[in-house]
Amino acid sequence: MVCVMSGAGRQLVLVLCGCWVMALGVHAGPRLGAEQLQAESYVAAVFEHRSVLSPDPLALTSRQQALELMTQNLDIYEQQVTAAARKGVQIIVFPEDGIHGFNFTRTSIYPFLDFMPSPQLVRWNPCLEPHRFNDTEVLQRLSCMAIRGSMFLVANLGTKQPCHSSDPGCPHDGRYQFNTNVVFSSNGTLVDRYRKHNLYFEAAFDTPLQVDHTVFDTPFAGKFGVFTCFDILFFEPTIRLLRDYEVKHIVYPTAWMNQLPLLAGIQIQSAFAVAFGANILAANIHHPSLGMTGSGIHTPLKSFWYHNMENPEGRLLVAQIASNPVGFGADNATGDTDPSHRKFLKLLAGDPYCEKDAQEVHCDGAAPWSEHAPPTFHAEMMYDNFTLVPVWGQEGYLQVCASGLCCHLLYQRPTQSSELYALGVFHGLHTVHGTYYIQVCALVKCGGLGFDTCGQEITEAAGLFDFHLWGNFSTSYIFPLFLTSGMTLERPDRLGWENEHYFLRKSRLTSGLVTAALYGRWYERD
Ligand SMILES: *[C@@H]1O[C@H](CO)[C@@H](O)[C@H](O)[C@H]1NC(C)=O
Ligand SMILES: *[C@@H]1O[C@H](CO)[C@@H](O)[C@H](O)[C@H]1NC(C)=O
Ligand SMILES: *[C@@H]1O[C@H](CO)[C@@H](O)[C@H](O)[C@H]1NC(C)=O
Ligand SMILES: *[C@@H]1O[C@H](CO)[C@@H](O)[C@H](O)[C@H]1NC(C)=O
Ligand SMILES: *[C@@H]1O[C@H](CO)[C@@H](O)[C@H](O)[C@H]1NC(C)=O
Ligand SMILES: *[C@@H]1O[C@H](CO)[C@@H](O)[C@H](O)[C@H]1NC(C)=O
Repeated sequence: MVCVMSGAGRQLVLVLCGCWVMALGVHAGPRLGAEQLQAESYVAAVFEHRSVLSPDPLALTSRQQALELMTQNLDIYEQQVTAAARKGVQIIVFPEDGIHGFNFTRTSIYPFLDFMPSPQLVRWNPCLEPHRFNDTEVLQRLSCMAIRGSMFLVANLGTKQPCHSSDPGCPHDGRYQFNTNVVFSSNGTLVDRYRKHNLYFEAAFDTPLQVDHTVFDTPFAGKFGVFTCFDILFFEPTIRLLRDYEVKHIVYPTAWMNQLPLLAGIQIQSAFAVAFGANILAANIHHPSLGMTGSGIHTPLKSFWYHNMENPEGRLLVAQIASNPVGFGADNATGDTDPSHRKFLKLLAGDPYCEKDAQEVHCDGAAPWSEHAPPTFHAEMMYDNFTLVPVWGQEGYLQVCASGLCCHLLYQRPTQSSELYALGVFHGLHTVHGTYYIQVCALVKCGGLGFDTCGQEITEAAGLFDFHLWGNFSTSYIFPLFLTSGMTLERPDRLGWENEHYFLRKSRLTSGLVTAALYGRWYERD
């Protein structure tokens, strides 16, 4: 991933890592009551950008040449801001690497870097005060766009910061180079910046000595947090922003290389919104040949997304979303009277599974499921050694365990397709293309009919499952990854904790299931 995730077996490539109404009450003076706030909304945009790339990112260029290339991308940004302004957009997000591209070395990127003073120390409007600092052409253009569109604007660029050899962290060439997101308010003021913390094999950039916890305020939705691409999988700064700064909206520039079946861009973005009850405005770059596409405006309850491997062009997404996102609410499943849910609760309580207990009578004899237990097997999924069981028949209950994590599946399907699905578990340190500790329960459609095809990258499926998926996770940070046929997204019916297990429940899928997974991150173990 990157943020750039390289496809299975492929060499790691990069760098990586209607009628729109203005929101109500945006300009209202007095603070509104809590109920009114709930009803409020704002209009957000993300632009998936096919960036004009340097033909040879390793070559050394002049600042002039670098600016000529970046101007081509900034011209496209400006058109998008104009289009967005016509739709009443109040905040727009552009992707990581969208202006300068990727695959640079520390030296070859240098001409592409803007100088950037700290917004904490310097109040600066680059459009109105262009001569205050040298090497700030990109910041000036972005600031002018924010003014012209009269909207908050978030973009990603490379920045440089001179340092002295007395600074122990100062690199040998006397400067820091950062992968930086900048935030301009609608009057062009540079309000904040975020320097990427979890770099994804980006030789051109330095990790900031201290983590930026970047939060900016807006008149239409309050506080927004900022992070970039690969950061989404880590405690710092992501969880800290949610937990300690109580941020309910995230702007998220990314350059994400999709990796199925678990980590396509739109999959992790929407899972983030669901898991944390937050809105996330995610802008990816558009380079299908590198597996890079997938942007969205995701709320906990709904996603607006773009994922397109065929179309060579990017896209502007605009959506009106709640200023105060409402999550899945109370996680108390105990009161649920649905028969399959009662069965799930009985299984959780340790009752045996009975094949035909529609009347909830008794089970005949000893543990029926273990006698006919399907075979377990191993297959590699995203470079991790999963333990799996095949999902056979029209209904059933399965359990599979590894290293102290047990995953369970209770399922029913109206028609049995000829496809193979499997329930898999993995618990351990993921070490390829980034190192991070995970606990995963995953129901996936396999690439073919052989066990060895489970974990392959597929996007089409016909299986319409009604299911409960649960596991006894040791972490409370769990991403509910959910993907249906043709790269579409649906929301779980319910999810949450019940009896020390985390569960996800879904029935009446509208398209075939590709992946339903509980992707737990155990940050302390990284
Ligand atoms: C980036 O570099 C890799 C090799 O390191 C190459 O395969 C890939 O095509 C390059 N991508 C771009 C967009 O230049
Ligand atoms: C910008 O660069 C020019 C030419 O190198 C120099 O004369 C000028 O002092 C610089 N301005 C600032 C604000 O650093
Ligand atoms: C510009 O926007 C910033 C941030 O929203 C605000 O603090 C500042 O007062 C505004 N400046 C003007 C001149 O309106
Ligand atoms: C969950 O709901 C049930 C039934 O409505 C209720 O009896 C129980 O007290 C609730 N538990 C919690 C923790 O709220
Ligand atoms: C996966 O794990 C199992 C059980 O620990 C082991 O037998 C098998 O060799 C592993 N497979 C690979 C490819 O490492
Ligand atoms: C999960 O359940 C299995 C089987 O009951 C048990 O062996 C394991 O210790 C449990 N793990 C945790 C973390 O509770």
